[in-house]
Amino acid sequence: MAVQTQSRNRPLSRAELRARIDRLPRTRLAALPTPLEACPRLTAAIGGPEILVKRDDMTGLAFGGNKARQLEFLFPGILASGCDTIVAGAYTQSNWCRQITAAACRLGLKVELVLVHGIKGPKLTGNLLLDKLMGANVTIVDIDDVQRLPPILEAKTQELKAAGRKPYLVSPFAMSTLSISTVGYVEAMVEIDEQLSARGLKADCVYVSGANMTPAGLLLGAKALGLTTRVVGISPVRWDEDRATDIARIANAAAKHLELDVTVSPADVENDDGYVGPKYGLVTPECREAVKLAASTEGLILDPVYTGKAMAGLIGHVRQGKLRKGETAVFLHTGGMPAVFAYAEDLVDA
Ligand SMILES: Cc1ncc(COP(=O)(O)O)c(C=O)c1O
Repeated sequence: MAVQTQSRNRPLSRAELRARIDRLPRTRLAALPTPLEACPRLTAAIGGPEILVKRDDMTGLAFGGNKARQLEFLFPGILASGCDTIVAGAYTQSNWCRQITAAACRLGLKVELVLVHGIKGPKLTGNLLLDKLMGANVTIVDIDDVQRLPPILEAKTQELKAAGRKPYLVSPFAMSTLSISTVGYVEAMVEIDEQLSARGLKADCVYVSGANMTPAGLLLGAKALGLTTRVVGISPVRWDEDRATDIARIANAAAKHLELDVTVSPADVENDDGYVGPKYGLVTPECREAVKLAASTEGLILDPVYTGKAMAGLIGHVRQGKLRKGETAVFLHTGGMPAVFAYAEDLVDA
């Protein structure tokens, strides 16, 4: 389904939308704007639309990624609390935890990470290696799902308080975290549109590893600007609940921060979970093919958990005739490259 082109009021210009974003408190952390690069060899190899890659793997903060933009809007609230320590958690190969640790280092805060064992476990490589290099205090818990993490994070926070520290718990699933972070990707959509316009181009679609804040922000940005660009999320995980409803809910909560009179409905959300494979974090043959193709045609390194599957989705959609020659597709590279090292044997033969 295409993004509806009309918001209830007239669409905002890029300058107007930027002005709304500029009203919000912000902690500068990301190297922006990121480049938008043509990929002629990858385009030719795939044989579909012209592909441009938005290089959000180059945002900085310990090897880049989409969290840098999101953290710019999350950190003012964290800093205002007067905390001395950030408590966060996810899987051991979490890009989110790596980038929040890098941001905390730059801002003079300590970090306590509670990491779920996950597929790659305590192997000291990739993101986990970087977390430790940056001085995060890491506790690894062997539970089967990150959804069970919040009470463990809460207990860690209480433990730190009892020890006289001033911890700030960044709740990974709280709407307050999700909605303000989403603003970073509203701005990314403005940036993409600006960069395309400078080349006389319009995007038919933006492909992105679709989970939460990133597709929600892009979608909200596209709607606010009145663009016909479709935001196509390729899911890294199969959700139990209705994802379109959740992504729309996150986008609409972000719209409130920006005082936008725009509503994203579940019908606006395109989310394909056909490229997850058996489960989150397991490399599929299609993902492996996509990672190798981007690397060998463009020297572009994708990650095995998110962007590799998103590119597999883009390639799959070309093969199914959903994306065609003559169209322009932006592929948003959301980062995640440190995981390449943790997944070495899943990606190449020894
Ligand atoms: C590399 C990468 N891409 C995409 C995502 C999904 O981002 P979001 O949850 O903001 O939609 C993540 C989340 O951890 C990620 O690490």
